[in-house]
Amino acid sequence: MTSDIDTALERAIALVRRSAMPEHPDTSRGYLDLLGGDDAPRPTVAQSAMNNRIVAAIYERLWRPAGVAAMGFYGLSPAAERQKAADDLHLSGSQRVLDVACGPGNFTSFFGSRLNGDGIAVGFDISKPMLDMAARENRNAHAAYIRGDARHLPFDDGTFHGVCCYAALYLVPEPFTVVREMLRVLAPGGRVTIMTSYTRENLLVREAITMGAKSIGVRMFDRSTFPTMFADAGLTDIHQQIHGIAQFVSARKP
Ligand SMILES: C[S@@+](CC[C@H](N)C(=O)[O-])C[C@H]1O[C@@H](n2cnc3c(N)ncnc32)[C@H](O)[C@@H]1O
Repeated sequence: MTSDIDTALERAIALVRRSAMPEHPDTSRGYLDLLGGDDAPRPTVAQSAMNNRIVAAIYERLWRPAGVAAMGFYGLSPAAERQKAADDLHLSGSQRVLDVACGPGNFTSFFGSRLNGDGIAVGFDISKPMLDMAARENRNAHAAYIRGDARHLPFDDGTFHGVCCYAALYLVPEPFTVVREMLRVLAPGGRVTIMTSYTRENLLVREAITMGAKSIGVRMFDRSTFPTMFADAGLTDIHQQIHGIAQFVSARKP
């Protein structure tokens, strides 16, 4: 008998572009693995951490809360942050939502719990350890996972009603390629939301934070980069919130 969880994975797989599907799809680990045996690249300290089983195991309870504290937005609890993402996406009903660089699925499963009918939240990540955790702890009837590289999203244009990317653009090698891909797969009328790093305009502070972050493979962004990128792509309803050294930016595709 097919379980609700299997049905969710089937629904996620049905969204993958035919040309991106391998002849024999591998779902043996509870998610669709489009990268096969290839380990994720580990060019930096930050990337290595994301491919470490111990970090994956403690990510949701210890690693992320510590990161949030370091970024200076203690005020926003994990629950409030998830709620903010869902609100910014106007998440409801039978929508299709993509959670880019989903890690262990800490946001994806919440998005799934907010959907019904044929709604599906697809968590997408490059790290096997992270997705192994997601498959173990964060699957549900409306949340499933795919392993791949966010620089080349395997979905047709306009596939999703909402696209989220939290806490990842500062460590992926080509963040602007990832954002362009996110906007490509967003349907007209859909919403995008990101959370990433932010450096203050003060030159000395900016230089100090940027250098420290760079040494571990974390990139800092200024206030205007993403709002400008969204505006240049024709998005509307652009909202930005700054908390400590983090920024939240959301927008709507007309
Ligand atoms: C800090 S975690 C973020 C998890 C979750 N979104 C959150 O807010 O807690 C960053 C994730 O980005 C993923 N990642 C890094 N480069 C990637 C790429 N090129 N494609 C997909 N995921 C990537 C890592 O594997 C890691 O799971």
